[in-house]
Amino acid sequence: MKKQNPPRPLRLDLDPNNWDIFWADSGMTPEFLGSLGNTQRANHFLGMYNICRKSSLGVHLKRFQKEFPDHYNFFPQTWMYPAEFHDIQEYTKKKTDKRKEMIEDGKMTEAQSEKDPVVLYICKPESGSQGRGIFIATKVEEMRVQLNRTYERNRERLNEYVKIEQGIDTAMQHSNPKTQIQVDNIMQRRMERPENQYIVQKYIKKPALHQGHKYDFRIYVLITSVISPMTIFLYDDGLVRLASQKYDPSKSFDDPYVHLTNYSLNRNCKDFDSAKHKLRLRDVLQGELVSSSANGRTYRKKAEQIWHEIEEIVVKTLMVVQPQLQHLYRTSQAKEPDICCDLLGFDVMLDHKLKPWMLEVNHMPSFRADTGIDYEIKHDLIKNTLQILQLSIEQRKQLDMVIKGEQRLAMQYGNVRRMTVKEHCERVRFDHNLIDSYIPGNKFKRIFPVDPGCGGLATNGDELEDIYAKLEKTSNTIWKKQVGMIQKKEVNPNLHEKKKKRKNKKNLLTSMTSHIKKGDPEKDHN
Ligand SMILES: Nc1ncnc2c1ncn2[C@@H]1O[C@H](COP(=O)(O)OP(=O)(O)O)[C@@H](O)[C@H]1O
Ligand SMILES: [Mg+2]
Repeated sequence: MKKQNPPRPLRLDLDPNNWDIFWADSGMTPEFLGSLGNTQRANHFLGMYNICRKSSLGVHLKRFQKEFPDHYNFFPQTWMYPAEFHDIQEYTKKKTDKRKEMIEDGKMTEAQSEKDPVVLYICKPESGSQGRGIFIATKVEEMRVQLNRTYERNRERLNEYVKIEQGIDTAMQHSNPKTQIQVDNIMQRRMERPENQYIVQKYIKKPALHQGHKYDFRIYVLITSVISPMTIFLYDDGLVRLASQKYDPSKSFDDPYVHLTNYSLNRNCKDFDSAKHKLRLRDVLQGELVSSSANGRTYRKKAEQIWHEIEEIVVKTLMVVQPQLQHLYRTSQAKEPDICCDLLGFDVMLDHKLKPWMLEVNHMPSFRADTGIDYEIKHDLIKNTLQILQLSIEQRKQLDMVIKGEQRLAMQYGNVRRMTVKEHCERVRFDHNLIDSYIPGNKFKRIFPVDPGCGGLATNGDELEDIYAKLEKTSNTIWKKQVGMIQKKEVNPNLHEKKKKRKNKKNLLTSMTSHIKKGDPEKDHN
């Protein structure tokens, strides 16, 4: 019998430069990206907070909602508090007047109106997570009082937080056994940084229900390049997170176990059952979905169609920040066009008509595996991500050879330069072909760039490719205007006036000279 070799024990490699991917739950710095080797990867792009903070996501999407109302209608109307409180009041007044008219016209009775609040707002800390600090308000004045109270409370806590942090810093500076005890003591009091800003959002009061419970989807999106064309993949599976109590809006809006679907929150409910309240997305989003509204109407939609709408939502959201991300990446001195990647978690919920709404984008989606489904999905997700990033030894060797070849050529011709956009596009397409042919079982689908002619029709009937091209162009213009690369017309109205006067003067002179040259026909008769 052949003697079996004992398994090789794991070795700890102490070489600080010998690694393939840096995976951290924190942001990156430009210096760090600049220091990475050709084949090393980092799990975040610079500037992704632009869509991962609820406030900046709102600001960016609002700007696009104004330009393209038909395309950016997947994000609930959002306001910043307190900056846009006046707009919230105006919106509330409009809705209240409309309700009064309905009662006057006999379309609704007073009793019905009392049961159904005119407006419903959901207030969220701008960079919160896991449902913390969220509340629902039915009256705008009550909302204001509650928000101001929260601000006051948070201000005190924020001061305390700053003091604790400063205490740790000073104690750490004089490190000796005595101060170590001091550090330990302060560390025990360490707390989370309290939120200081809120956003107010229209509450979707008629959600689609699963066996009577409200739910939302956790969708996973992988970005491997932010240089145009951005490269975006959508994972073929995800999680469905259900509220642990049945949905009944006529009861109360205070119960988080009815209205919020965060797992980290609902698992504390006595009725929570992980087998019922956390499901595999592919098990729910398949075949045909049916939703019944309170007035007895039934809505149906094919899961395929919903997937398609989610794809569009993801691309359109990322399109909004692409120019910023590209700029930050280029100025970070990263050596290669695809050193970074980002695995984002999109929260999407369906309303009673089965229309998907995007609620937020998570920069660091949880990889905790508390349940069997969690483990299966997240384990596969990471495996498939690493496949796309091409981190196997063979792939690394191949990539290293290509890069070294490119560098040698550049040295030979004395022309060390950055890849042109066209060359980059070619390389991206080449990589995609590799992924499509060498990783056939991979569960990520590339959703941008769409292959020419394969994009299909968007929900409004236009060619997807054309729409994306238009959005990309507008996004560039908006960004350039923002950073002052294109002058806004209203920046200096005098300049515009001066130009106009100069042009008029020039026109006058030319018409006079041509008049002299040609002679006046009438005078000819004289
Ligand atoms: N506009 C909305 N309408 C209805 N429900 C919402 C809305 N926004 C958020 N929710 C519910 O609240 C939960 C938490 O909101 P989210 O924006 O994801 O904040 P967090 O970062 O705390 O998870 C969502 O999972 C969803 O169940
Ligand atoms: Mg969330």
